[in-house]
Amino acid sequence: MRPEQTTVEPAPSHNFDKWVKARSANWSSVLEEIYGPPEKGRHRATFIANDYVIKIPMCEYGVGDNEYEAEQSDRNLAQCHLVYDSDDFPILIMEKVIMVDYDLLPHWAHNVDCSQVGLSKKTGRYVIYDFGLN
Ligand SMILES: Nc1ncnc2c1ncn2[C@@H]1O[C@H](COP(=O)(O)OP(=O)(O)O)[C@@H](O)[C@H]1O
Ligand SMILES: [Mg+2]
Repeated sequence: MRPEQTTVEPAPSHNFDKWVKARSANWSSVLEEIYGPPEKGRHRATFIANDYVIKIPMCEYGVGDNEYEAEQSDRNLAQCHLVYDSDDFPILIMEKVIMVDYDLLPHWAHNVDCSQVGLSKKTGRYVIYDFGLN
């Protein structure tokens, strides 16, 4: 699996962050055609589908966040898994959460970084949707 090449990519061993940014731009141009513009966080561009979202790293911290989130599993965390493209670029697939007004979130959500908590469509539980380390 490889997106159509639009941005020239340096080898990851030569300049990892520049490779991530170029890889990111190539994937984003393909996914934007399908899903429309992404929601952008600090390190990742998130494309929203019906029942899941696709997180594309925008820099090397986004790579670390995707790999970290895929390793975690807890009832308070949105379910997710990682897929690697043919160049080993890590793409995170996560269940989509329904965004809830800040005032309606449970108390513990106010202690989560930027209260990034929403309602799981799958389980009806409140779950954290951004639990990367960076
Ligand atoms: N599971 C999800 N369901 C719905 N929207 C999401 C989900 N995960 C992320 N988003 C949206 O995408 C934005 C960016 O994703 P996020 O994981 O916060 O990236 P970053 O780690 O770079 O901050 C979020 O602020 C939110 O608006
Ligand atoms: Mg975020």
